[in-house]
Amino acid sequence: MAYKITEKRQLVPDVHLMNIQAPDVAAAANAGQFIILRIDEAGERIPLTIADYNADEGSVTIIFQEMGKTTKQLAKMSAGEDLLDFVGPLGKESEIEKLGTVVLVGGGVGIAPIYPQAKEYRAAGNKVISIIGARNKDMLILEDEMIAASDEVLVATDDGSKGHHGFVTDLVKQLLDGDEHIDRIVAIGPPIMMRAVAGVTASYDVETLVSLNPIMVDGTGMCGGCRVNVGGEVKFACVDGPEFNAKDVDFNLLMSRLSFYRKEEADAITKSQKGCGDDCKCQ
Ligand SMILES: Cc1cc2nc3c(=O)[nH]c(=O)nc-3n(C[C@H](O)[C@H](O)[C@H](O)COP(=O)(O)OP(=O)(O)OC[C@H]3O[C@@H](n4cnc5c(N)ncnc54)[C@H](O)[C@@H]3O)c2cc1C
Ligand code: FES
Repeated sequence: MAYKITEKRQLVPDVHLMNIQAPDVAAAANAGQFIILRIDEAGERIPLTIADYNADEGSVTIIFQEMGKTTKQLAKMSAGEDLLDFVGPLGKESEIEKLGTVVLVGGGVGIAPIYPQAKEYRAAGNKVISIIGARNKDMLILEDEMIAASDEVLVATDDGSKGHHGFVTDLVKQLLDGDEHIDRIVAIGPPIMMRAVAGVTASYDVETLVSLNPIMVDGTGMCGGCRVNVGGEVKFACVDGPEFNAKDVDFNLLMSRLSFYRKEEADAITKSQKGCGDDCKCQ
């Protein structure tokens, strides 16, 4: 079975949105879950978070950043073309319940996975304060959607071109030091950002969840590729997560495992730019 791309658009430089016709995935999807796709027979399997879904239309939205061979190949595809595999929903859904006030923190392309959470936390009766951040205003995605899905949205840019001049962590700290009682914080973005949020919230009594993005292969708990250390125990992010309590996560191990295949990833881009096959021995 092939999975048709029904919409494709660039949101900001190097970040794209795609709607995929995948009725079975759309019917079962929940916030916090992800899919694994493969473009064609020769393709690598890559995990992407479900950024939105519409069970009535049978469509699933993914938002991805061009990083290496597969995401760059995906970025060149257009509406009307097919993906070979689109497997999901995978991972545990976010445990969304009525808590009170929930702060959602999204950094860069990490704003995409917090968008469905904003909608679902609000639908469950929570006050949702979203903090979204990017390097600069031109790299900020889904601002209008986050405003529509949240009670309040705070923006941070590294260069100060929009909102707070600085990191999302500054805004998290300001909220924690303010008068509002916060019942839960969910932070999704680059591991370095999630580690920084965890560092800020560690000295406050507030539950903090992060969504981990280790290298994944099968997404079903069989290969061990996505193992992470949480609370001193080995967990497989694809089946035990991807959401975990931030205070228990070994971020240093996560970051060192993510850079494990850097040489192979650089070689794959070079070969794809030269038009060589994966088994080509040129450098
Ligand atoms: C549960 C989960 C959800 C994710 N959701 C999103 C999302 O919504 N949007 C988005 O832009 N990115 C997301 N990612 C990251 C995305 O999977 C990688 O950017 C992508 O696999 C890179 O592949 P590549 O061939 O383009 O780049 P490569 O050059 O192969 O790799 C670039 C970097 O991407 C990471 N990566 C590579 N292969 C994998 C893999 N099989 N699994 C996980 N990470 C990998 C590594 O950090 C690597 O250094 C998610 C990752 C996980 C685990
Ligand atoms: S991706 Fe293979 S065990 Fe999680």
